[in-house]
Amino acid sequence: MTTVGRLDRNQVTYPSHVAQQAVQIGGAASIPGFVIGAFTGTLRTSTPILFSLVSGIQWFALGTTFWAVRTSVLNHVGLQNWWNSTRGAPILPRTDLSPSHSDRLRASTISGGVTGAVLGALFRGPRNIIPGTIMFTLFGFGGQHAYDFLDQKNTEQVQKDDVTEEGAKEKGTWLQRAAKSKWSPMKVLSDEEYLEMMNEKVLSVEAEIALLDDKIEELRKQQKELEKSKPSENEKK
Ligand SMILES: *[C@@H]1O[C@H](CO)[C@@H](O)[C@H](O)[C@H]1NC(C)=O
Repeated sequence: MTTVGRLDRNQVTYPSHVAQQAVQIGGAASIPGFVIGAFTGTLRTSTPILFSLVSGIQWFALGTTFWAVRTSVLNHVGLQNWWNSTRGAPILPRTDLSPSHSDRLRASTISGGVTGAVLGALFRGPRNIIPGTIMFTLFGFGGQHAYDFLDQKNTEQVQKDDVTEEGAKEKGTWLQRAAKSKWSPMKVLSDEEYLEMMNEKVLSVEAEIALLDDKIEELRKQQKELEKSKPSENEKK
């Protein structure tokens, strides 16, 4: 038997996991099912609660089946690996971990078809298998297409927003940009420019202090000379 090591766990898709996910999706789908059922049931039948229940169950079955088949198609290598690993057959490295647009489109289309066939037969009888399949194949295809289209648009918008935001950060606010233009009477300083300007100010103040020091020194000399000359003047008197 091939041992399924820790690393190989990533190579395996467990059916229980697929089922669990599908049931969650089905549960989510049952909510609008109940609501729509209650609405239509109230309008059209004398048993709205029963109608709502049936509708909820149908939507649950629809969501669960669709998602289970879709996930299985998307993870077919992982599932096959699981199957192989239970009977000691060799497993292959997975090639289905990052499905492309067309992979997802194919999975949803196949899944739509299978769901339509199964549920058509289950809820409406064998005569509905073919129309159910056709209808839900189109739903699966169209739905995935629409989703990918919107997803793509959303991604582009987010990227665009990111770019604009970055640009705005670089350029600053419109006020700062206006101040940077050569017609602006005022100037916006960066931290470095401000520091440089302050350093220049400090230097000029230091130069002034040095000049003042010189002057003070000169005045002191003059004072000393005056003091020296005073006694001699007194002596003369
Ligand atoms: C599963 O095992 C069979 C041999 O029994 C092998 O041919 C096949 O490639 C394996 N598939 C995967 C996905 O591991």
